[in-house]
Amino acid sequence: MQLMAPWVPAFTNSVNRHLESFPFVTLSFATVDCEGRPKVRTCIYRGFLFNDRRTNVLTITSDTRMDKIEHLKSNSQVEACFWFPKTNEQFRVSGHAHTLTSDNAEKFSDEVDYPLVSPGAIKNYSSNMDLASMGQMTNNTSERNDIKPTAQEWKDEMDSKWDALSGKLKASFRKPEPGSKITPEKRKLLDSITRGVDGSNEEDGKKNYSLVVLTVDKVDYINLNGHNDIRYLYERFDEDQWTEDEVCP
Ligand SMILES: Cc1cc2nc3c(=O)[nH]c(=O)nc-3n(C[C@H](O)[C@H](O)[C@H](O)COP(=O)(O)O)c2cc1C
Repeated sequence: MQLMAPWVPAFTNSVNRHLESFPFVTLSFATVDCEGRPKVRTCIYRGFLFNDRRTNVLTITSDTRMDKIEHLKSNSQVEACFWFPKTNEQFRVSGHAHTLTSDNAEKFSDEVDYPLVSPGAIKNYSSNMDLASMGQMTNNTSERNDIKPTAQEWKDEMDSKWDALSGKLKASFRKPEPGSKITPEKRKLLDSITRGVDGSNEEDGKKNYSLVVLTVDKVDYINLNGHNDIRYLYERFDEDQWTEDEVCP
């Protein structure tokens, strides 16, 4: 069953307040490389999975040719840190990340070990009463598998997050191999992509596009507003239950 985690309302509120003053929300996204070293980089937050806060799952987009995607193949453990300067809040989020591409949509629900429900099934059970009965139904593992997101729903989710990207960002997926040595040819290609005259179609970069799905297990929230500093720790247990502890900031 999907139940909204107790950290989600505060997180959504911080995102919304941030977006009143800034065009997007960034996060520091940490993975572990093949030699066990931490690697961190800035990414743009792309919202909750299926645009549904009850998933408790966050998304970012990335190029499949980037190092972080390689890291996730050998170690799916990640940490993401959001800082909201306007409200002096930080959310340190840890869990696992999985890379959704057009190649693995068919098996993605098996890959992601998290209590996710098909968005279509949720729509069908629209009243609270029905959602409660779906919760009972999902105590049975085989029945829960029946209502996991379908391959088509994963593909639709990839498409909807791709469609929301600006033309400039879509173009960045056509760039030469990220991290490869620059050559005069690559510089020329980069320049023509930037000017939109590389002769490609907007959709051409989609072959390198992936949606990184961050299933959250723990959240460390701190609000240092200066007059009533607070800190809360949240942890997932029993699939879809969460502890919530106030601690000293
Ligand atoms: C403001 C900003 C936003 C960024 N957003 C993303 C993003 O959403 N996804 C992404 O893969 N890289 C993004 N990057 C680039 C990454 O920080 C990083 O350079 C790139 O992902 C390569 O990292 P990797 O080789 O460790 O995978 C962004 C960089 C900046 C400065």
